[in-house]
Amino acid sequence: MNAPTFVGQPLRRVDGRAKVTGSAAYASDIRPPDLAHAALATSPVARGRILAIDARDAEAVPGVRGVFTHRDFAGAVRPVDYVMGGGHANSTFRPLDGPEVRYHGQIIGLAVADTVEAAEEAAALIRFTFAEEEAEPRLDLASGAPEPLADLSAKHHDIALGDADAALASSNIAVDGRYATSIQHHNPIELFSTTCAWDGDRLTVYEASKYIDAVKHGLARQLGLDPADVRVVCPFIGGHFGSKFALSQHTALVALAAKRLGRPVSLVPTRRDCFTIANHRPETRHRVALAADADGRLRGLIHEAAMATSRFDDFAMEGTDVTAAVYACPAIRTAETVLRVDRNTPGPMRAPPEVPSVFALESAMDELAATLDLDPIELRRRNETRVRPEDGARFSTHPLMRCFDIGAEAFGWGRRRSAPGTSRDGDWLVGLGCASTVRPVKTAPACLRVAIETDGSGTVETAHHEIGNGLRTILAQLAADGLGLTPDHVTVRLGDTDLPPAAVSGGSSTTTALAPAVERACDALRLALGRAAAAGGGPLGGLDPASLRLAGGALHSPDGRSEPLAAIAAAAGGRVAVEHEHLPPGLKPAMMENLKGGRNALGQPSALAWAFGAQFAEVRVHAVTGEIRVAKLLGAFAAGRILNPRLARDQLVGGMVGGLGGTLLEATVVDGRTGAYVNRDLAEYHVPVSADIAEVEAILVEDDDPAANEAGVKGIGELGIIGVNAAIANAVFNATGERFRSLPIRLGDLP
Ligand code: MOS
Repeated sequence: MNAPTFVGQPLRRVDGRAKVTGSAAYASDIRPPDLAHAALATSPVARGRILAIDARDAEAVPGVRGVFTHRDFAGAVRPVDYVMGGGHANSTFRPLDGPEVRYHGQIIGLAVADTVEAAEEAAALIRFTFAEEEAEPRLDLASGAPEPLADLSAKHHDIALGDADAALASSNIAVDGRYATSIQHHNPIELFSTTCAWDGDRLTVYEASKYIDAVKHGLARQLGLDPADVRVVCPFIGGHFGSKFALSQHTALVALAAKRLGRPVSLVPTRRDCFTIANHRPETRHRVALAADADGRLRGLIHEAAMATSRFDDFAMEGTDVTAAVYACPAIRTAETVLRVDRNTPGPMRAPPEVPSVFALESAMDELAATLDLDPIELRRRNETRVRPEDGARFSTHPLMRCFDIGAEAFGWGRRRSAPGTSRDGDWLVGLGCASTVRPVKTAPACLRVAIETDGSGTVETAHHEIGNGLRTILAQLAADGLGLTPDHVTVRLGDTDLPPAAVSGGSSTTTALAPAVERACDALRLALGRAAAAGGGPLGGLDPASLRLAGGALHSPDGRSEPLAAIAAAAGGRVAVEHEHLPPGLKPAMMENLKGGRNALGQPSALAWAFGAQFAEVRVHAVTGEIRVAKLLGAFAAGRILNPRLARDQLVGGMVGGLGGTLLEATVVDGRTGAYVNRDLAEYHVPVSADIAEVEAILVEDDDPAANEAGVKGIGELGIIGVNAAIANAVFNATGERFRSLPIRLGDLP
């Protein structure tokens, strides 16, 4: 490996211009000739059966080419397994397979027409008659029958260390609170589109997906095709936040319609439909109890959590595994359960386990600090741990308190008044709050092809996804350093299943998987070029390939001879390429097979490696109206080696803004009678806009952690959102003396 020249630099995005000028083609921008357009009909009832269908009015709409319901497609789509259970699908429920209705918003019809408008009109005119049954669409802890997670997930185990209940019962200093978080929907700008085009029995799918190999293999299974005959293309993604996850239910239906009509069909669902044809962050409920000594040292920790999932899929998040390992404590008990509701299957949304669970823990820590009249940062310092309490395993690095120290200094924590409700600026009550940010590092296998072309430029190819995080830029930086080129002489090809297979763009695993893989692949390419040069009659003929070094677009020998890469490729008769497969330490070889089969290939590295941060919030609460403004967010984050500080800051600030949304704005409301998501559009599902965001600052804290992986990176896609909710809620307490244990906190919630 050469000394890094471009890695670590704040380079601008190599595809930034293409994206902002509109020349970057997203999946739904790709329009095969003779394209027809689809629109969905969805169920207005939460549970029941379709008794009758009248499609005559729909079929009479000018330009309509096909109206499809379960009468057309029953039995046409074969079952696939759930992605969290080793399969491909983000929901195992197959719409249009029968008359059964399992949730409001379920796909019950598909209209295809020459224009989007005709398709939408026709979809609205399909008349269904239902036999409705009673449904339970909302999570109700009181009446539901919780199911233990142990049955749902092989990985999960509830923790029982010492006797936490006894510690709580015998302690004079304790807090014991109930916390709740709401349903959230991802709402990326780019909708959940798919376009299916057949060429004989070969199918090409252009789809907004963060896991195109899952779409490929899952769709092949659903439609009885050879996976080699399915190609999935997704050059760019317009945001996902955890959606666009694995195989969606609508893709096979669009593919079937395209087959029956003999022409390509595109579906760009409405924003409203996107609330039910994809996943969401489910609502969660928590009990966190903490018992402490008079000096603030934890004696007992109890975290009981429950969350909603669908009747047919086992989505579970396992956040108590994380909250049980943040602080030193001799007695810990966790219990995590799910409850089933009559809704579509939830799924991952940015830091799925940590966002709700760390909110509960870090709110409780703030309550404990208030009980003890101790500074909240000091309370965390007194409970710092370098090992996981449950098993004594040592963290590879543990810079949590360093993040607090650096963050507190930059934020001006010293101006905080510990007595709540005592800091005032005119009509505004001012409060400061903080929270810990913690996240276990995940990684995945990777497959890559790197090449030197005949013009001497470099190429990196993998089916991975440009989700908006700047992956093309990062890969160009890594390959430029690895190949002795500049990033503008590296072409990065992504988002096509014809390229070497890639794992899901999730779990903040993209760089942890790819960075070590690119470094090794470039080294393998250096040797391949060296062998070609040594075998040829050029200036490097006869030399030891291992002794040659790449720099400045040429291969160099230790004694000062060199040959340009273009000349080596020309002499070799064309591009010189190597394929490289990388299995990170700690992952079983079966994970590589999972990757190649489009199944879940995420795992944890062999070291106990976590990323950390400290979140700070300054809020202003209007004393008369109760309006809550976040004047400042500051996060200090330690996440291993930073490949590009500009892109890292973008990711972290984006996460922090998402955290603000989840604390004060975002919540999907379920109508208990109809099972409908009531506010399923951006007019009523509120996300932060610029006017909601004042100052946001992300500080990168040094964290040299070679044990995390060979490249020392930890992943930053999710880190920035974790703990923001608790920091803001704790700041609201500091401003007002009111403790909010349920998110979001809205102006009407203040007394
Ligand atoms: Mo994510 S929520 O792992 O894409």
